[in-house]
Amino acid sequence: MEKTQDCYNLTNFVEEMTAVVEASLEDVKRVKEAEKLVGKLVRTKSWLQTEELISDDDHYARYSLYHDPQDRFEVIALVWKPGQRTPLHDHDGTWGVEGVFSGRIKVDNYLQVEKISDDEIKLFHTGSLTVSEQSTAQLLPPADCHILEADGDQPAITIHVYGKRLKSFLIYDALDEKDIYTTRKKDVGYTS
Ligand SMILES: [Fe+2]
Repeated sequence: MEKTQDCYNLTNFVEEMTAVVEASLEDVKRVKEAEKLVGKLVRTKSWLQTEELISDDDHYARYSLYHDPQDRFEVIALVWKPGQRTPLHDHDGTWGVEGVFSGRIKVDNYLQVEKISDDEIKLFHTGSLTVSEQSTAQLLPPADCHILEADGDQPAITIHVYGKRLKSFLIYDALDEKDIYTTRKKDVGYTS
């Protein structure tokens, strides 16, 4: 039986997300169902101990909440001070969902159009959107590059689910030529 909104928690999410990855190997189905479940998580407040999620003056803070033992998904929380933003980045070939627990984020989405060489790629900016509290968005390769920014003068907490543990991703730096970017790998860890 489906849990009601006010008692949904991370354990419920992990149970339901595990059932999703066991039901289908298709990323398009997994990301669609993951976005629905992240929506349930961010519409519930009681499960997350926000006092343990400390922001960082230099960049957004990154906390691990759960990692599937078979590496079929992970759940993290990002903690943003107002105005903090990511560089333009991808997600190492996997799908992702972002949900806003508190605050608001601006998302700029990009599509991978053409790999030009080992470290050069053409991207197309597909649009900008603002994701408000209790709302979600998703990414699926080749539409898997974006910039996230804490929007407005409020801090933000966002919940992210990826299709595997994200140990590294590519950062994209714009070249003079329109829509062409060079790539560099960045290893990522956790604040805790
Ligand atoms: Fe991202």
